[in-house]
Amino acid sequence: MLRQMDRLEVAGKRVLVRLDLNVPLKEGKVRDDTRVREAAPTVRALAERGAIVVACSHLGRAKGKPDPALSLAPVAPVLAQYVGRAVRFVPDTADATARQAVATARPGDVLLLENLRFDAGEESNSPELCRKLAALADLYVNDAFGTAHRAHASTTGVAKLFAAPSAGPLMARELRALGKVRDNPERPFVAVVGGAKVSDKLATLKALAAKADTLVLVGGMANTFLLAKGIGIGTSLAEPDLAEAAREIMATATERGVAVLLPTDVVVASDLESPGRTVGVGEVGANDRIFDIGPASRAAIAAVVTGARTVFWNGPAGVFEKPAFAEGTLAIARALADSGAFSVVGGGESVAAVQQAGLAAKLSHVSTGGGASLEFLAGDVLPGVAVLEER
Ligand code: 3PG
Repeated sequence: MLRQMDRLEVAGKRVLVRLDLNVPLKEGKVRDDTRVREAAPTVRALAERGAIVVACSHLGRAKGKPDPALSLAPVAPVLAQYVGRAVRFVPDTADATARQAVATARPGDVLLLENLRFDAGEESNSPELCRKLAALADLYVNDAFGTAHRAHASTTGVAKLFAAPSAGPLMARELRALGKVRDNPERPFVAVVGGAKVSDKLATLKALAAKADTLVLVGGMANTFLLAKGIGIGTSLAEPDLAEAAREIMATATERGVAVLLPTDVVVASDLESPGRTVGVGEVGANDRIFDIGPASRAAIAAVVTGARTVFWNGPAGVFEKPAFAEGTLAIARALADSGAFSVVGGGESVAAVQQAGLAAKLSHVSTGGGASLEFLAGDVLPGVAVLEER
């Protein structure tokens, strides 16, 4: 059983709360604030209950040393806006400046520590960083579902130094929604998986090929499956080394009676600046590159999603940042929104597409986890979750 934040007596206590504020920045500004918005109610609840909130997160892949481009400083005002109270940014992860900021804070104050990954001890889960972080607080809450697949100092090591490390409400909500998809999906269960690479999602694809009723494959990764079936893909992105793995996934699906739906038509061009042309999958020219799925594929996906009771979607169908190649991805977003099924979307790009289409509110759950949601669906025990279970 997961320990929950609600059961903690937080008034007057210093609470270290691990958030996933790993948001894209552009020219020092937050480009997509979904994760900040989702984290804010937890911070507000703690502050309203009289805690001294010591929020922490990583941002990007700082390699164990400070990198001004990856500072959490620009995130603090965005968090403040959503929390509805001041957020004091502390330009230090866990050393003297952080200790001093915490020592002078009062109940209801919110502090945000500097990027945890500026300290090499974060990713190596160093006992020293764990001790320093633990010294900043009386209680520990982890609400960073998006980082729960990482066994780092702030997600696992430090949790073990507290008597009752607890899950925040966002973490709990994510686990409930994804747990339903993984363990108890109402059928038919349709999984739509796209994005660039098979290699990033291999374990999840294997699990879904055994568990879904229909596995829909789109995006760059579908190219590898087409290749594995001996279908020409021109100069499209693919991972020929994974053709055998793709064949095994298709064989598992056949054995388990899981239908695999691959694109039957695609939008091709010689490069991203050229206009696209729709062709059948057998007709991709030697110099063509596949940048999206075509209308027949969109209609087939919409039909299968419409009949589903549970749908999980991760990964775009094409280069949706370019309007000419966005239609497939947007069509999937619309199909999920219209399905009436229990619909869950995970992964930064699919979530961005859902938001771009203004459809987020029509889905059952929009996950803040990309890699974490995939590892969870693959059946892995997430280390950041395991430490929150009642011992
Ligand atoms: C994510 O964006 O998936 C999480 O914040 C984890 O980030 P990471 O892949 O850099 O560990």
